[in-house]
Amino acid sequence: MPLIAFVSPKGGVGKTTLAAHVAALLAARSHRVLAIDLDPQNALRLQFGLPLREEAGFLGAITRQTAWRQAMVETPVGVRLLPYGTVDPLTALETAQALHAEPELLAAPVREMLADPDQVVILDNPPGPTPAMSALLPMIDLMVVVLLADAASAAQIPQIISNRWLGRGRLAARAGEKAVVVLNQVDLDAPLASAVFDGAAQALGTRLIGAVCRDDAVAEALADKRMLLEDRDGPGAEDLHAVTDAIAARLRLPLPGARRRGGFSALADWGLR
Ligand SMILES: Nc1ncnc2c1ncn2[C@@H]1O[C@H](COP(=O)(O)OP(=O)(O)OP(=O)(O)O)[C@@H](O)[C@H]1O
Ligand SMILES: [Mg+2]
Repeated sequence: MPLIAFVSPKGGVGKTTLAAHVAALLAARSHRVLAIDLDPQNALRLQFGLPLREEAGFLGAITRQTAWRQAMVETPVGVRLLPYGTVDPLTALETAQALHAEPELLAAPVREMLADPDQVVILDNPPGPTPAMSALLPMIDLMVVVLLADAASAAQIPQIISNRWLGRGRLAARAGEKAVVVLNQVDLDAPLASAVFDGAAQALGTRLIGAVCRDDAVAEALADKRMLLEDRDGPGAEDLHAVTDAIAARLRLPLPGARRRGGFSALADWGLR
């Protein structure tokens, strides 16, 4: 426990970047962290600097094996990772169909992972709804919805507020209540980003738990097979720390060595904090 999912109705917004950094920053604070890639892009491993040639994985092979411990990879930052695995498109499709028909294929091993009370489990998802997320919905403690500070993201916010974006019925509504939002790639100088940010803050209230500024260092770190784990790595790194702190606070996870942060760097720049 607990189970944290990084999700979004939108693609390319920073789900994988945030999932990897929050996982690594929690691991740096002495938490036992297991990260699971549920996206056939199999990109989470790249954030942890793992080589492309390693093609084995967990979810992409779930119809053939459920021995999840065998698929686990130790990463250099102390996070244990279950990559999706490198699979062809047909296998990815068949995997999704198998999960739709039999959610327990995934729910059972994840329940086992969550039985360890000291382990934090982090999920990286592809954009939009998936059978894998449906299978895990009842177990999720915190759903971090990543959006951009742009018009297309702003248009998604009413659905998030009404808790309807995960579907109809009580299960989806309950899961929706566990959703918080992080705005990513916020451009400090753009009037649109500023307006969207203000609108989102007003509409979402305490469900907006963080904002990460647009910082080339974030994209460059990925190209360098590095992670931004120190505040001194720049404003993006500082915001990623702040998001990690906010997630830990929501879940009441202890953070040894945590210091009080004044707030998000984007807010400070806009004179809002
Ligand atoms: N705050 C940021 N500043 C600058 N670049 C960023 C920031 N966050 C993410 N990026 C870059 O944006 C790109 C997309 O990020 P990422 O892969 O994490 O998005 P995603 O939501 O997981 O995408 P997908 O929907 O394809 O899974 C990457 O190149 C990443 O390095
Ligand atoms: Mg991704």
